Amino acid sequence: MRAVLVANPKGGAGKTTLSTNLAGHFANAGQRVTLCDLDRQQSALRWMAFRDPALAPITGYYGGGQTFFALPQETDWAVLDAPAGLQGYKLSDYLRVVDRVLVPIVPSVYDMAASEDFLNSLRQELRGRSGVIGIVAMRVDPRTRAATMLESFLKHFDFPIVAYLRNTQAYVNTAAGGRSIFDTAPSLHRREKESWAGLLQWLNP
Ligand SMILES: Nc1ncnc2c1ncn2[C@@H]1O[C@H](COP(=O)(O)OP(=O)(O)OP(=O)(O)O)[C@@H](O)[C@H]1O
Ligand SMILES: [Mg+2]
Repeated sequence: MRAVLVANPKGGAGKTTLSTNLAGHFANAGQRVTLCDLDRQQSALRWMAFRDPALAPITGYYGGGQTFFALPQETDWAVLDAPAGLQGYKLSDYLRVVDRVLVPIVPSVYDMAASEDFLNSLRQELRGRSGVIGIVAMRVDPRTRAATMLESFLKHFDFPIVAYLRNTQAYVNTAAGGRSIFDTAPSLHRREKESWAGLLQWLNP
């Protein structure tokens, strides 16, 4: 079993969008996947509640109330959807059990500034473990000014950008029906699906 934490203390960075779509991808690839909602707002579980039982199965539960987080049993992938503001001992507790951390960052000056301390904490907490942290450029096209801004911000860190996910209603519309972009027909959202290739390869080399 492998576990990935999706985290950024900035609200609205795209954590739940990333987590639910990642879970949807694994489910459609025939893997057993558990979505661990760590957020009291339980947005990921709300998404699960909309999900048609005929779609590829995902197990979900609220994992935010435990003193020490324990990974779910009998799953191939655990995807942990973190709450905004995650830091301190809670962050350390989750980092203890996961193989990878995905940090979605929207390349705005506000979001980058709000993520900086968090990236420093991650670097500190994960020293001695290389290749654990991947950045997801959220709501941005590669080769745009916004992308360049994010890339230069990340020069202070040694974290790869593993995907650029565009700003598109595909995520908003699928989420409304408890679906991921990977739950749609192959001909739909083709470009979006392709933009996940690097991220998926990084998670599962
Ligand atoms: N790539 C995208 N394109 C378009 N809309 C997006 C994209 N990513 C996220 N959104 C939208 O942005 C909003 C915030 O995203 P999301 O809920 O995933 O963020 P979050 O980090 O989980 O927020 P919170 O900190 O409140 O848990 C949602 O309405 C979502 O549909
Ligand atoms: Mg969320």
